[in-house]
Amino acid sequence: MEPISRRRALQLGGLGLAGVLAGGLGLVWKGSRGTRFDAAAGAELSEPSVLSSTGGELAIELEAAEGNLPVAGGRAQVLGFNGGVPGPTLRIRPGDRLRVRLRNRLTEPTNLHLHGLHVSPAGNGDNPFLRIEPGQDFDYEYQLPDTHLPGVYWYHPHHHGLVADQIFGGLYGAIIVDDPEPIPVTRERVLVISDLTLDSAGRIAPASMMDRMLGREGNLVLVNGQHRPTVTAVPGTWERWRIVNACVSRYLRLRLDGQHLQLLGLDSGRFPAPRPVEEIVLAGGNRADLVVSTTAGSAQLLALPVDRGAMGMGHPGMRDIPPRGQDATETILAAVEVSGVAGPQPAPLPPQPTPRDLRRETVAATATFTLDAGMGMGMGMDAGGMRFTIDGREFDPDRTDHTVRMGTVEEWTLVNNSPMDHSLHLHVWPMQLLRTGGRVVTEIIRQDVVDIPARSRVTVRVAFDDYPGRTVYHCHVLDHEDLGMMGVIEA
Ligand code: C2O
Ligand code: CU
Ligand code: CU
Repeated sequence: MEPISRRRALQLGGLGLAGVLAGGLGLVWKGSRGTRFDAAAGAELSEPSVLSSTGGELAIELEAAEGNLPVAGGRAQVLGFNGGVPGPTLRIRPGDRLRVRLRNRLTEPTNLHLHGLHVSPAGNGDNPFLRIEPGQDFDYEYQLPDTHLPGVYWYHPHHHGLVADQIFGGLYGAIIVDDPEPIPVTRERVLVISDLTLDSAGRIAPASMMDRMLGREGNLVLVNGQHRPTVTAVPGTWERWRIVNACVSRYLRLRLDGQHLQLLGLDSGRFPAPRPVEEIVLAGGNRADLVVSTTAGSAQLLALPVDRGAMGMGHPGMRDIPPRGQDATETILAAVEVSGVAGPQPAPLPPQPTPRDLRRETVAATATFTLDAGMGMGMGMDAGGMRFTIDGREFDPDRTDHTVRMGTVEEWTLVNNSPMDHSLHLHVWPMQLLRTGGRVVTEIIRQDVVDIPARSRVTVRVAFDDYPGRTVYHCHVLDHEDLGMMGVIEA
């Protein structure tokens, strides 16, 4: 049975399963007109506080706690790091040591993951198997290599089973690894984009099992915790925007018409020359490093709808179900107002070092990872009978699914057998994209989250140069990760 598109499903709305499932929407925050959460729309974009390293070290405390925190122009009962949604931005340099005391003041276990950073997964490093109990403090320590790639990264909890809930609740923040040679721009901004759904009492709406299977999409999309803020700028300047897709499941297809956009890089990848773009698509967890050359006028930062495919029910007579929650039309993320006296002409962007090209290197081993979501006959009903698997298995922290030899390059084929998009995120080691669908990628593109569209395959290469240890790879539709779409790799 062919999956139906989201648009088709909307036309069919109210019929059959989709109609039954939509019943769960009763709880969502309406947020459309005249609500206190819209009252502050239009406020100037603010940014999380910044904690910067000095003398090669940054030592901080991050307290994860629930509170009545400022969010979307009002106050809501959400989760935050150090009382903020997002948490503080960490600004570090290659070669730095980062020490974080994580204070768990939640009512459930948590832990901390530095998404995209190339640091050791062992011990009290970037270890996703740690479990920090409520009330407990834990001291993490990370040593960045001198060769760490500059760029925008982020941090979030990674306790299996609670990752989506804790990020949806508000626990995330940006990390910037500074460029060794600064890129001359007029100003820099961090834009952490996240989504959430609040109920009428201003609490995070719980996700139903169907939300989890489809990958929940909150009905408020926030930029730095604000709903539809305004970015004001003067014309003729260059602004560097570091954009994080911190949404649990939503993909972001971003547009900013009327402004000239150049992409410096994605994730930890940097293009040799900035690339003019009209749109950027970020799967959950992806980041964009963007230069906006400002032109006088009013513009809107938009997230256009993304079709993430449908959930195959695999039963004759049962229609496939598309992800829901996202508007069928575009979502306005922010207003951009450019006016005033033109700023000084910026210096040209310096060329970037040519990144290492793994296509030229010898492959020591190949592997295939197959992501699937399907009805498991006779399986537990905890996901409505659906199983979210990699290579037919659900996550088991005690099992090692893939072993690699340090110092080698591997070529991986990522196969998505389901009618819904998934992604693959690998901790510690970035992936170079070789082929996606039928398309050969000629540029050197290095990412740590790779989208694998429904019923397609993607080929990547990974260099395992350093950091022996055990860590994970998983779908970054984080509801799927929590449902078991994760495996363990040991280097
Ligand atoms: Cu952004 Cu394993 O996570
Ligand atoms: Cu990660
Ligand atoms: Cu998935």
